[in-house]
Amino acid sequence: MRPQINPSILSADFARLADEAEAVAGADWLHVDVMDNHFVPNLTLGLPVVEALGKATGTPLDCHLMIEDPDRWAPQYVDAGAGSVTFHVEAAAAPVRLAREIRAKGARASMALKPATPVEPYEDLLPELDMLLVMTVEPGFGGQAFLDIMLPKIRRTRELIAKHGLEMWLQVDGGVSASTIERCAEAGADVFVAGSAVYGAQDPAEAVRRLREQAETAAAAAAWACGH
Ligand code: DX5
Ligand code: ZN
Repeated sequence: MRPQINPSILSADFARLADEAEAVAGADWLHVDVMDNHFVPNLTLGLPVVEALGKATGTPLDCHLMIEDPDRWAPQYVDAGAGSVTFHVEAAAAPVRLAREIRAKGARASMALKPATPVEPYEDLLPELDMLLVMTVEPGFGGQAFLDIMLPKIRRTRELIAKHGLEMWLQVDGGVSASTIERCAEAGADVFVAGSAVYGAQDPAEAVRRLREQAETAAAAAAWACGH
């Protein structure tokens, strides 16, 4: 799959969300960080804002739920218009049931792992998912430094996807920028969330194009992508 760039609106101007979505109209998805001040120590937005944003943009919404009780809330984000819904495995009571429910409602189901959560215990769950998100910072805030100690986990996740012959996407989120995206792509990521690297740039649309080019070049040269 061609690398995808998902700008995170956490770094956008929340008073002008429709304009900020328009500023990255060439992006594959808009990444929407939902935080409840319990699962992470920050509070952002919820269902009404997701619903309004979905109506205001043609770009599909990639909702990243950093909330407690995703079993209760995640399906409602599909109803609100999200095309992809990511829940954290650390917060989910029944991840398989939840992934099936999200898919049954017609969205892509995705599961996120915090930096200290290993991927190996979830190997058997992977076929239930459309995407796995490997966090490359502790979730909660934009603008943090990329944790390069996560690169081996990205590599091992890519190996598991190949081992099972799955089509699922592998997303990275946190500190992804012009100086880190190539390492992520080389390790096996194919969906890249970028907040400050896109909205902190003079020209966000140009930042998206450049990040995609860098990811494409790095992925084309990577061993994992051979034969794709
Ligand atoms: C952090 C969020 C990220 C955040 C990334 O918990 O999940 O999506 O917006 O921001 P940057 O790209 O600035 O690290
Ligand atoms: Zn996120």
